[in-house]
Amino acid sequence: MDTQPNTSKGTRGLELTELNWLLDHHKAKESERRQMVEDLGLKPGDRVLDLGCGPGLWTPMFARMVGQSGKVIGVDFDEALIDYARNKLENKRFAGVLEFQVGDFYDIPFADNTFDLVFFGNCLAYVTDQPRVLAELKRVTRQGGRVVVKDFDGAVLVVHPIDPVLSAKVLAATAQGLRERPPQAYFDNYVGRKLPGALREAGLLDVKTTSYAIQKMTPLTEEAKRYIAGNARWYVSAGAQHLSSEEVWQWRAHFDPESPSYVLDRDDFYFCMLELVAEGRACS
Ligand SMILES: C[S@@+](CC[C@H](N)C(=O)[O-])C[C@H]1O[C@@H](n2cnc3c(N)ncnc32)[C@H](O)[C@@H]1O
Repeated sequence: MDTQPNTSKGTRGLELTELNWLLDHHKAKESERRQMVEDLGLKPGDRVLDLGCGPGLWTPMFARMVGQSGKVIGVDFDEALIDYARNKLENKRFAGVLEFQVGDFYDIPFADNTFDLVFFGNCLAYVTDQPRVLAELKRVTRQGGRVVVKDFDGAVLVVHPIDPVLSAKVLAATAQGLRERPPQAYFDNYVGRKLPGALREAGLLDVKTTSYAIQKMTPLTEEAKRYIAGNARWYVSAGAQHLSSEEVWQWRAHFDPESPSYVLDRDDFYFCMLELVAEGRACS
């Protein structure tokens, strides 16, 4: 039961619900995400849009940076996720700073020149018309403000102590499988490398990109285990038709706690993947 997401919108959440997948993903990478937000150099009083905010997990980190004089608005088209974010976060610690509303990437419900910074995190991989959405992001950013796009690049996945030959085969098979049988809901597993070019193409200025190596070592939290194992199962499912059944079996066994080749509790375990944050200035 590991090939189909439970919900179709904006997720590759495998056997977890979209919300649970997003929560695990966030918990597994919280310290790195905090660093990414700190590196943005937001100032007190800044107005931030978190577009495609999901359950609002990044928004308290932005709120901490912009303070009581600032504003952070989370927008997502999934009403259930916006309700979750409102219940958890609105009128609580960051009352008056944090707000959530339903809205679409393709038609952002704000006037031109509204925000100092527009953040688009883990969303571009799902966008079928990137120029249109990036033009929208740019439109609602004030002149001189910043559009920030954060995503990952699925070509980098290091899991030690799995045989590097097996890992390379699985990664190649995944890429081939995705090309031949793209997911029903559009998803670009290799969007990270395209961020700098996409931002330049959108007419943003002074584009700069920072790469973050997301590393995990034992002991892993339960969220990190679920995240890593879920990811690994997704890769092998996408690539299965280009692998032998023995290779599929070996890969799966490495993430099965019942198997003697389970890796996630080993002292020498090491996991690494690549995430990128690209930003550019909006100017007409
Ligand atoms: C992978 S999630 C990322 C959520 C959040 N940014 C995070 O990093 O935790 C992608 C989000 O995009 C939202 N989404 C997908 N298409 C959308 C659209 N056209 N307009 C608004 N939100 C959309 C989904 O509902 C989902 O919450």
